[in-house]
Amino acid sequence: MITFHFYGHACFSLQHGNTTLLFDPFLTDNPFQTASPASVMCNYILVSHGHSDHLGDTISIAVRTGATVITTAEIAHLCAENGCKTHAMHIGGKYSFDFGAVRVTPAFHGSGIAGGHAAGFIVKLAGTTIYYSGDTALFGDMALLSRLEPIDLAILPIGDNFTMGIDDAVEAVRLLQPKKVIPIHYNTWPLIEQSPIEFQTKVQQAASIPVLIVQPGESIPITK
Ligand code: NI
Ligand code: MN
Repeated sequence: MITFHFYGHACFSLQHGNTTLLFDPFLTDNPFQTASPASVMCNYILVSHGHSDHLGDTISIAVRTGATVITTAEIAHLCAENGCKTHAMHIGGKYSFDFGAVRVTPAFHGSGIAGGHAAGFIVKLAGTTIYYSGDTALFGDMALLSRLEPIDLAILPIGDNFTMGIDDAVEAVRLLQPKKVIPIHYNTWPLIEQSPIEFQTKVQQAASIPVLIVQPGESIPITK
């Protein structure tokens, strides 16, 4: 069984046995204040892009824990220069780690770092395929991603303004056809205030796919 823990905004972890993957560890200055960067433990940190609400506390957590940072080449270079263990990848690439495979997917968004590109990830962990889109606009090739890697769980932004809003994320769910969806990247600041219940209702109507609403600081089990 995999445990999904939500730290609020776009920061979450997936834990299975002795493996914890931490995604976009924005903890300092995260208004949800669910954890201190000094207390989080993980084996790997996956960073989707260089904006401060995603790169966040990556360097301090990686240096303290010895976790390997899995990210695009430009961000990996920045982290390595600051003393982190890194595994550089890029969009379209796949690699098999000890816990399972990671595919780096495109995202339509700013990179937050010179020469970089925003990304998402498809992670295979304990026989479960999880797609984290990162910050992105809706794009039609989400249908292609799900054809390549049938998706058990999709983790998608719904906050609008910087990323997909509710209606575009509903369309993303129709393209991805995942077994379950978790919405993130909303209600962190007034600019991205959205109702996850509205998203849940619209996904139910459009695609009959369950939307799991996870509160910041809450953990839930992910079953296939
Ligand atoms: Ni961003
Ligand atoms: Mn963001």
